[in-house]
Amino acid sequence: MSPATLLRNALRALIPLAVACTFYLYLYPVFLGCAFPLPQTEDNVAAFQDTVRQHVLPHSSIAAPFRLLALGDPQLEGDTSIPNYNRESFPHLTWAIRHLTYKTDHPSLRKRLRQVVHDIVDVFFDDIPDTLESIRKRIDLFGNDFYLAHIYRTLRWWTKPTHVTVLGDLLGSQWIKEKEFNRRSWRFWNRSFKGGERVPDEVAAYPAEEYDLAGLLGVEDDNAAAWRRRIINVAGNHDVGYAGDLTVERLERFERVFGKAAYELRFELPITNPAANATIYNEETNPDSDRLAPELRILNVNNMNLDTPAADQSLQDKTYAFVNDVINTATAVEYQGQFTLVLTHIPLYKPEGVCVDAPFFDFHAGGGVKEQNHLSADASRGFLEGIFGLNGDPGAPGHGTGRKGVVLNGHDHEGCDTYHYINQKEEGEERQWRVTRWPTAKADELPGKSGVPGLREITVRSMMAMYGGNAGLLSVWFEEDTWEWKYEFATCALGRQYFWWFVHVFDLIVILATVVYVALRAAVAAGFDIDRWPATKTDAPPVTVSVTPNGNGVKAPVRAGNGEAKKV
Ligand SMILES: *[C@@H]1O[C@H](CO)[C@@H](O)[C@H](O)[C@H]1NC(C)=O
Ligand SMILES: *[C@@H]1O[C@H](CO)[C@@H](O)[C@H](O)[C@H]1NC(C)=O
Repeated sequence: MSPATLLRNALRALIPLAVACTFYLYLYPVFLGCAFPLPQTEDNVAAFQDTVRQHVLPHSSIAAPFRLLALGDPQLEGDTSIPNYNRESFPHLTWAIRHLTYKTDHPSLRKRLRQVVHDIVDVFFDDIPDTLESIRKRIDLFGNDFYLAHIYRTLRWWTKPTHVTVLGDLLGSQWIKEKEFNRRSWRFWNRSFKGGERVPDEVAAYPAEEYDLAGLLGVEDDNAAAWRRRIINVAGNHDVGYAGDLTVERLERFERVFGKAAYELRFELPITNPAANATIYNEETNPDSDRLAPELRILNVNNMNLDTPAADQSLQDKTYAFVNDVINTATAVEYQGQFTLVLTHIPLYKPEGVCVDAPFFDFHAGGGVKEQNHLSADASRGFLEGIFGLNGDPGAPGHGTGRKGVVLNGHDHEGCDTYHYINQKEEGEERQWRVTRWPTAKADELPGKSGVPGLREITVRSMMAMYGGNAGLLSVWFEEDTWEWKYEFATCALGRQYFWWFVHVFDLIVILATVVYVALRAAVAAGFDIDRWPATKTDAPPVTVSVTPNGNGVKAPVRAGNGEAKKV
């Protein structure tokens, strides 16, 4: 068989495989059946079908009016993870040469040579492995940017979210200098989250009694299109530092590039049914109603410095003022029709064994939180009892049942889905906040149980390759008959980076092989004598081959001991 024929046969098998793998990779959410949950049904197939419908017949879709693509901890790494960054790659080789060329001081030739031998050994045992690892890491970082981009781009295209959030730890280290911070920011916006935009400062509002709406849900306008591009970035410990590291400079550079670290967004869902609309509370015409115009309140809470001690007291005071203003500007718990979605980074407190991460705190020698896995139990109660108004005391406003909502966060890369609750029937010390996994809570029928206020907290698994390139899909919708918001959460994971790498390298090889094949054919067509293997075996007799201009008349060589001559 000639080289061209061999290549052609190989390509016949490889091209379909490459096409299939590429199709799978580029359409992975379709193959995995990923979709935002649909209102009022747990049917994944129906949700998938509706996503297809959104691509084909957008107006017939019954998708939830709020669909949030939630991504956890991309953690863009950079210079800090490259061993030989900013220093020479073969320091021992340099030293060996300096010793050899008498650029160093040595009392004797013997000692000089001994040093040279030492350095040469180190070249093999230190420099080469170190350089190889550095090269590997650089390639890995480069590929990782595009791997993350693949997740963002593909899911945004397929699942059609109305909003997108990255739940903190956008970057991999809070210690990086300005230059590296700018480099990673560039990679974030121009590579991994290309097409995304930071939330404008004038839209990211401070909590207030009177506010401008950030937009309407379920209404297709310019504003809705702008929200599809925007990314609600949450500040994480690797972006701005824990309380013990959080300084004005770190916070400022984060806010400059990624958007404010603490704000609220209020979206309203217009009620089109006049009869339902008429039941909404109105000071003059309908003062007895407990129904408010349906509103979704998104709170982006920077919870990095809720716990003490903090490096910068004034920043911590600001965070506390923010949380208090969130509480003070919330509607009274007795009213229906509002939904609070908290986006934050560090998960709420939970005892060991509920999620992968157990409670953990570490402090700097001079004071200041150095690291924490969860918020403290007190700070967590600030969310449950403050922002959400849940209470163990049935005599509390609204019987302590609190506001409807959900908390989304990151930090714990493994992810976790939990339910915090407090049993009002328990007495004294017994009555305290408890937490269990969401599936257990559902099996025990805890959510919605009378006398047991509770709140779901979803810790979104990281989108990093080592955690499988995960993404969260949160749907929130409104039910007019009960005047309640409902929500459901699904996930979609691309899988580790190996397949992403394999497909791209494989495609490259197949493309190169195709080019070589075409070149071979062209060369043969042009009359070059290459359409056969060179006779390399010493026992093969020299053969003369006559070549005709169109290359088709080549006679195959006759090998010694192999009387069969095949026409190619
Ligand atoms: C992204 O690239 C554009 C164009 O090169 C540049 O103006 C912008 O500053 C970049 N973004 C970041 C965050 O570096
Ligand atoms: C709903 O009622 C409000 C007044 O409470 C009114 O301004 C609005 O136009 C009504 N919307 C519809 C669709 O009827």
